[in-house]
Amino acid sequence: MKKVYIYKGFERFWHWSQAMLIFLLALTGFEIHNSITLFGFELAVTLHNTAAVSFIVLIIFTIFWHFTTGEWRQYIPTTKNLKAQFEYYISGIFKNAPHPTRKTQLSKLNPLQRLVYLGLKVIFIPLMVISGVLYMFYRYPVAGKVESLGFSSVTPIAVLHTIGAFILLAFVIVHLYLITTGQTITSNLKAMLTGWEELEEEHNDPKEKEEKKPSHE
Ligand code: HEM
Repeated sequence: MKKVYIYKGFERFWHWSQAMLIFLLALTGFEIHNSITLFGFELAVTLHNTAAVSFIVLIIFTIFWHFTTGEWRQYIPTTKNLKAQFEYYISGIFKNAPHPTRKTQLSKLNPLQRLVYLGLKVIFIPLMVISGVLYMFYRYPVAGKVESLGFSSVTPIAVLHTIGAFILLAFVIVHLYLITTGQTITSNLKAMLTGWEELEEEHNDPKEKEEKKPSHE
């Protein structure tokens, strides 16, 4: 085993700010939706709008970071070990089987993570941002219509936004469980807090090297 620096400073900042913002957006969003009572409706709306704008600013910086560092390559989907990873989570994990994929600095996501995180980045987070911004436009500047876009009712926007919120919530629950399935129960959490993780030594497999492209801080 050796200590490896897996998650860089900005990446950890982005991850935890995103986690806090999504948590606040979910709490206030479900209050707006009338599922819970916590802040009171008016404050929930103000907090939701403020968190939403902060989230959009964070997303802009994060997109910039992914492209300038080359880290976007970590999310290129692969079918290699995808089935093995899936079988590990539904069966192997309960029989103490070894992890089917080895985490390295240059390939820190397993094939299932690549697919799920890519889906979040290109489908579900954009869905929340676009439907949320449309919701804002519907609510505030034109108060009741988004006529230029052909929306005469808020219902389709609200339904899409709410479906997205439930999907994000489901993701967070599964994510919290999967955090505990690293080398030890806390190793993934510690890595995202400190950046460092104890990993198996890399073997000199030339085929693996070929697939990985270097990234910069
Ligand atoms: C940039 C991202 C987002 C924007 C711009 C945004 C914007 C909005 C707006 C304007 C509303 C309506 C507020 C009102 O009625 O005055 C709303 C409602 C809501 N939001 Fe968001 N939101 C975003 C992200 C999220 C996220 C990440 C979640 C959940 C994880 C979420 C969950 C909800 C829910 C559940 C509602 C209530 C929907 C309804 O009952 O019609 N939102 N959002």
